[in-house]
Amino acid sequence: MKASADVPFFKMQREYGDPYKSPYELWKELEGIPTIRDYYVKDLLAVELTKWESRGGSAVFVNLEGSQGFNDSYVYELRPQESSIPVRHIYEETVYILRGSGATTVWTDEQHKQTFEWQTSSFFAIPPNAWYQHFNLSGDEPARYYGMTAAPRIIDAFKNLDFVFNNPYVFSDRFKGEEGYFKQAERSARGGYLSNYIADVLGSAIMAETPGYSEGRGPGVRSTGFTLVNGTMHNHSSSWPVGVYKSAHRHGPGINVMILRGEGYTLMWPNGSQEPAVKCDWGPGSVLVPGEGWFHQHFNTGADPCLFLAIGWGIEKAKAGGARGRRRQRGTRSRSQPRTRRSIATTKRRSPVTASGARWAKCRRFARSNKDL
Ligand SMILES: [Fe+2]
Repeated sequence: MKASADVPFFKMQREYGDPYKSPYELWKELEGIPTIRDYYVKDLLAVELTKWESRGGSAVFVNLEGSQGFNDSYVYELRPQESSIPVRHIYEETVYILRGSGATTVWTDEQHKQTFEWQTSSFFAIPPNAWYQHFNLSGDEPARYYGMTAAPRIIDAFKNLDFVFNNPYVFSDRFKGEEGYFKQAERSARGGYLSNYIADVLGSAIMAETPGYSEGRGPGVRSTGFTLVNGTMHNHSSSWPVGVYKSAHRHGPGINVMILRGEGYTLMWPNGSQEPAVKCDWGPGSVLVPGEGWFHQHFNTGADPCLFLAIGWGIEKAKAGGARGRRRQRGTRSRSQPRTRRSIATTKRRSPVTASGARWAKCRRFARSNKDL
């Protein structure tokens, strides 16, 4: 990794007419990896990757519109039996395994390395500034993951790659090579996980209509929280039944909604907009990111319950605006959009799932009426 002193792009003044590029954008150019820019990606398993010289493997950056420079993501792949080049950075990172099997070694000093294995649907986080190296243990299958990081705001804040990627500080309050650090914890009484590693999100997530858990944002909807490495990330899965939509809501930027099961679509729109909503058709392997303050609704039009994993930043995240920021981060519902008023009218009736035939029928009618937007 080049030190920022060697990077002429980080000078304070541009030549007249030079387009502005943030330090984060310039860092990506240095790495030689292209960027996908859109509202969503239909299939993360199908996107083309470019060889990543400084990290090993191949990758593509994903800067979706709704991330708005708050965080980023990338798709990364190792060929059979390939390993990545060790790296560390002071920003946090989460990793979801899209396919394949392998192992990751994490350390802050050479004497206390922790290695854990993973496979498709594993989910874990890299503690800030810990060294890490990934290994594809398969002899014939590639291993591909989706990583989400805080790189944009950290690189843009310090404008110094040496500080971000070659910093000796050890966040010992987060990780100091403890044995068992990456062992999956038991599910908490509330149904979520306070863990540094999840072996299988698909097998750990509470699915739609599972009795004994409270509903959220629609009939039969079930959520599972995943808090990793005592980080600022707030991750959760959500599953909802056939023919049901999740009621409209909004929150802060950068929540990566990755579809793990099911078929459907999402509508998202800025508050007060008279323009048609952005429609994202999705299935397993899709990812979308609603913009900050954009209302959004998820519709299940398939034959099975849906499941997504939302990877983002929690209420502890730094955010200007104090109470307003906190309220928006918790999420609010629209009271001005016609399409959303209908959803509120539907979700206001808290009838039990077992007696919600009329409510579900209304959800299905509404889902069908929006299907061809
Ligand atoms: Fe959301």
